[in-house]
Amino acid sequence: NVVPLEMHKVRIVQKLTLPPLEQRLACIQGAGYNTFLLQNADVFLDMLTDSGVNAMSDQQQAAMMVADDSYAGSSTFTRLAAKLRDIFGMQHFLPAHQGRACEHILAKVFVAPGSVVPMNYHFTTTKAHITVQGGIVEELVVAEGLAVTSAEPFKGNMDCERLADCIQRYTPGKIAFVRVEAGTNLIGGQPFSLQNLRDVREVCDRFGVMLVMDASLLADNLHFVKTREEACRDMSIRDITRAMADCCDILYFSARKLGCARGGGICIRSEAHYRAMRGLVPLFEGFLTYGGMSVREMEAMTVGLEETMDADVISQGPQFIGFMVDELVKRGVPVITPAGGLGCHIDAMRFVDHIPQTQYPAGALAAALYIAGGIRGMERGTLSEQRAPDGSEPLASMELVRLALPRRVFTLSQVLFAVDRLEWLYKHRRLIGGLEWSEEPEILRFFFYGRLTP
Ligand code: F0G
Repeated sequence: NVVPLEMHKVRIVQKLTLPPLEQRLACIQGAGYNTFLLQNADVFLDMLTDSGVNAMSDQQQAAMMVADDSYAGSSTFTRLAAKLRDIFGMQHFLPAHQGRACEHILAKVFVAPGSVVPMNYHFTTTKAHITVQGGIVEELVVAEGLAVTSAEPFKGNMDCERLADCIQRYTPGKIAFVRVEAGTNLIGGQPFSLQNLRDVREVCDRFGVMLVMDASLLADNLHFVKTREEACRDMSIRDITRAMADCCDILYFSARKLGCARGGGICIRSEAHYRAMRGLVPLFEGFLTYGGMSVREMEAMTVGLEETMDADVISQGPQFIGFMVDELVKRGVPVITPAGGLGCHIDAMRFVDHIPQTQYPAGALAAALYIAGGIRGMERGTLSEQRAPDGSEPLASMELVRLALPRRVFTLSQVLFAVDRLEWLYKHRRLIGGLEWSEEPEILRFFFYGRLTP
């Protein structure tokens, strides 16, 4: 078992506190058992997300000092657009304040009532934007993608036969676009292979439909392609990135995964698609040369994008996650395998198998882990789904507690502390009860529910 090695040193730190048990209990009760509603000051290890909380490099910090402040035509924006063109080889770029803003624009322009977006797997905000426009999401991840334990290295692959069937069934004219999500967020941060992406492209070409990539978690996916896909072993990260982008008509991303506090954007190959979306940027985001971002964030993004081309930088997240997953497997704690990107995913269906899915096992386990160790994870299960229009509640295909490992933030001893708390909690899992609503928010309910009771 290889112990991961930090390829960086720490030069700025933030003090943490571990509140005593009684205080943790009071805090989670006050938050209605929703880890989103905890105060960060009451959290020891914040593993809620990797969004906006990854460590920034000294080079990113330095670049922020030389940003060119101007509303229009800032040279900071020119540098960012040039970097994106250089890396992804797409001619056009539209900036946005973060990933979901890109989804808003894409959905408004390309999704009409009754149109369909086939994808490997949905993300919460993506699906919300598509369905708000009256569109339908079809999930076509390979069967192995939904198996909690597996030896399949690319569980995020799209099933190309089902994709072709889906396009034929609805007819190509009904397809808004095909969407592939790098590092499928909701099913354990699982990657797709370059070969699979090429196969998806081939299906899109056959039917004349557009291919859009959600590249928010591309960095992890690049690492897995490099280390798990035999044919890509000798390719540089830069070459793999370009080969992936070459398959797509459009790619969008959240820059919050690049160490930035905000930011995102849409890279576009064709002038026609660029023109179709351009008007919405000044309307919803900000002028075309900042799109809701500060110039400082754009400078940090430009450097962050270049650093993403360094195999030693992007391997840190997956290596730490792989270590955590291996340690938990050794101790018998049920986790998603193989290890993916973003974080370690605990399989709540097996962990608390005495809690029925209608009582939100992953939500209950996330709350219990905060009580047991001051660790904040995120429910990624039925609570993160939306109700169907008829009010019925679809049960999620997986009930996961995601313990995100923000890149280069936590040390190995902190990871081992989390492993120890999880092992303890697993031994005492019968202490954990289910949850029920006392008041349910209508949209993106997982963000605000604060009225659950055990
Ligand atoms: N797409 C993917 C795959 C994401 O993981 C996220 C965000 C978004 C789109 C939306 O981007 O937050 O900048 O608006 N994921 C974060 C998470 C929120 O915690 O998983 P955003």
